[in-house]
Amino acid sequence: MKFHIMTLFPEIFEPIIQSSILGRGISQNLFEVELINIRDFSENKHNRVDDYTYGGGAGMLMAAPPIYRAYQSIIASIDSHALVRTVYLTPQGAPFVQGKAEKLASYDHIILLCGHYEGIDERVLSMIVTDYISIGDYVLTGGELPAMIIIDAVARLLPGVLSNEDSARFESFHDNLLEYPQYTRPEEFMGQKVPEVLLSGHHARIESWRRERSIERTLERRPDLLEDAVLSKKEQKFLNDLKKDLQI
Ligand code: ADE
Repeated sequence: MKFHIMTLFPEIFEPIIQSSILGRGISQNLFEVELINIRDFSENKHNRVDDYTYGGGAGMLMAAPPIYRAYQSIIASIDSHALVRTVYLTPQGAPFVQGKAEKLASYDHIILLCGHYEGIDERVLSMIVTDYISIGDYVLTGGELPAMIIIDAVARLLPGVLSNEDSARFESFHDNLLEYPQYTRPEEFMGQKVPEVLLSGHHARIESWRRERSIERTLERRPDLLEDAVLSKKEQKFLNDLKKDLQI
């Protein structure tokens, strides 16, 4: 898998691609990241990539030609049989969810187009973009942070990127439930004790305690997820009783 990031600010990606789990994945050749500076494809003598919008209105728009040239340079470097998606990060996109990260992880190349200013000329978007993705209902100054989020969420799904220990640690959304609360030493912190059951060594009881806490937490924080949660009959009854108690 190779991520190709089209941006006006390539330098802001350096820290995330050099450190921690992603940095290790890249140095082990598990995936690659290429940074493409859209400004390098400007044919303007001042290297300008933005211009006024037709029809008036505040703000500047990123012009189509440099973006199209940058895109062509990426495509020219990719095998014609490879599976490619071109993602434009925009608050107008479909919400980014775990299922989308899983789908993207099956492609050979993901081109991420980061917008700035008031957006990008519609004509180049309609020519090159396959997926419009938003990371949430709020507006950021550019697509760089959203692109980093997509890379992080997709790369960790690629074979070998997470060690077994790492994968076991990130269970949220498993069965559409949030993860249960966890504790490490000390056994007592400012008067709060680690729940007794976790010290019992009784695996079945621990497992069932954790599932119940997951259900409780999901009901409290993300009740929308419960509609598609995978629950046993006993767990479904636990949830129903919980809702009754809370009069939901
Ligand atoms: N660019 C600006 N805001 C964004 C958002 N919420 N998601 C994706 N791209 C964006």
